[in-house]
Amino acid sequence: MLKFYLKRFAIFATVLTVLVNIYTYTYPSLDPENCSWHCFDNSRLTTLPSDGGLFEKLDYYIRRYSDDVIKTYWTSETASPNDEQRVDDVHMMALGDPQIKGVWHNTPYISRLDTFGNDYYLGHIFKTMKKRLSPSHVVVMGDLFSSQWIPDSEFYNRTRRYVDRLFNRDISLIEEIKESNHVEENENLFVVDWNKWADKFNDDLEGNRENFNFGYKDVKSWSNDEDYLFVNLTGNHDVGYSGDATYQHLTRFSTLFGKDNFWIEYDTETDHPWRLVVLNDLLLEGPALQPEFIEYDWEFLKQLVNQNFTGSTILATHVPFFKEEGLCVDKIEVNYYPEVWEKEPYKANLLRSQNHISENTTNKVFDMIFGNGKPGMVLVGHDHEGCEVIYNKFESNNTWVATKEPLADAKYHLQEITVRSMMGEFYGNTGLVSGHFNETSKEWEWKFTLCPFSIQHVWWFSKVSAIITLLAWSTLVVL
Ligand SMILES: *[C@@H]1O[C@H](CO)[C@@H](O)[C@H](O)[C@H]1NC(C)=O
Ligand SMILES: *[C@@H]1O[C@H](CO)[C@@H](O)[C@H](O)[C@H]1NC(C)=O
Ligand SMILES: *[C@@H]1O[C@H](CO)[C@@H](O)[C@H](O)[C@H]1NC(C)=O
Repeated sequence: MLKFYLKRFAIFATVLTVLVNIYTYTYPSLDPENCSWHCFDNSRLTTLPSDGGLFEKLDYYIRRYSDDVIKTYWTSETASPNDEQRVDDVHMMALGDPQIKGVWHNTPYISRLDTFGNDYYLGHIFKTMKKRLSPSHVVVMGDLFSSQWIPDSEFYNRTRRYVDRLFNRDISLIEEIKESNHVEENENLFVVDWNKWADKFNDDLEGNRENFNFGYKDVKSWSNDEDYLFVNLTGNHDVGYSGDATYQHLTRFSTLFGKDNFWIEYDTETDHPWRLVVLNDLLLEGPALQPEFIEYDWEFLKQLVNQNFTGSTILATHVPFFKEEGLCVDKIEVNYYPEVWEKEPYKANLLRSQNHISENTTNKVFDMIFGNGKPGMVLVGHDHEGCEVIYNKFESNNTWVATKEPLADAKYHLQEITVRSMMGEFYGNTGLVSGHFNETSKEWEWKFTLCPFSIQHVWWFSKVSAIITLLAWSTLVVL
């Protein structure tokens, strides 16, 4: 009797497990339009038969799904349809605010398990999308971790998870960094020598500003065995807002994640130059704990302007730019530490938080970066809900006004995309930026789409149901 029911259960569990796992591994194929690079040649897209009945629609979706699965798993990558294209498209994956949490000695086991699973859930999204799309660039939009109030050793431990579990990268690099940055008594406890970093920083700021080396040219990856470029942005949770950011924060970020401000120019000697600008916009405005950080940020922008760049620009930064309330989800908010702040008296009146850049600074920054009038795009994070707006540039009074739809009387339009978070609560999104050089207009065209997965429970279910199924069948064998 027991055997009879157990067998029914095992069959049911098997079917369910297979279905959920097929979904988990092929989810982008259900929405190929949003989960692929934008195809600028529209003739290749099939469309839903508009006058078809239920059966035709079903047939269309099933065919679209299976075609996509076959294309993803069984077509060789080299068979690219773009062989005749002169200029390669830019394929940039943008991942919003992973914000991974820490595990402390008093963290309950259930939260530990949750944090552990969450790492692999995020890793699954990256792995699936990377395999599917072979990006040229991967940009993580800041707030890599959930808190700036953590010791160096915890910062390292989370970096290790980020490198290994989320992004499946070689950990030997950061292990080497730890070998030369740990406390004397314990080689497991990472610590940065921020005094040394600060000396060099101030030295450069005072008289050797070219030593900041903000600029790169034609970098396609940071190491030979990688075929894409991986970029980490600073978020308020990684280095703090300017009222909180210390030398310690900047030292450990730059030691493990690279520069917070830089640009890479591509193909400057051709008719199709473009550049990626990475900006730490947390340090644009004060009052700051270390006012010299603000000076350094503006020095970066000054040097950027001095490049007299003539191409198209993608700007990637964390905090969104100024816009009227109601255009996006986060409300407009700036906080300062009070006049009397007993916990940390030295922070009185400093900038405590901001969820947008001020209007004035927004105008200035856009003028500096997009002043050449070439098409471009702004990618930001911070607002986990995501958002898309257009900045309309008015030359008469030099302002950039955000709206949902482009205003016809503006000379120039700039799209700002707030990349919806990749966290489970927001359905595990991947942002896809496609850049295509239009040979007729001789301009770059940029398009953004968002590819969601599911809340983390679906991923969990695919693993747990597999284990239960296995248990059920093994019990049956024993009985
Ligand atoms: C980081 O990991 C190391 C090695 O596992 C451990 O010794 C150390 O205590 C961890 N740091 C924190 C802050 O938990
Ligand atoms: C971003 O961080 C990862 C992990 O430490 C590292 O492998 C990668 O090289 C970093 N990117 C840059 C531009 O330094
Ligand atoms: C950009 O133009 C300015 C002013 O004409 C010039 O001084 C500067 O050297 C130029 N920068 C580069 C990188 O060519």
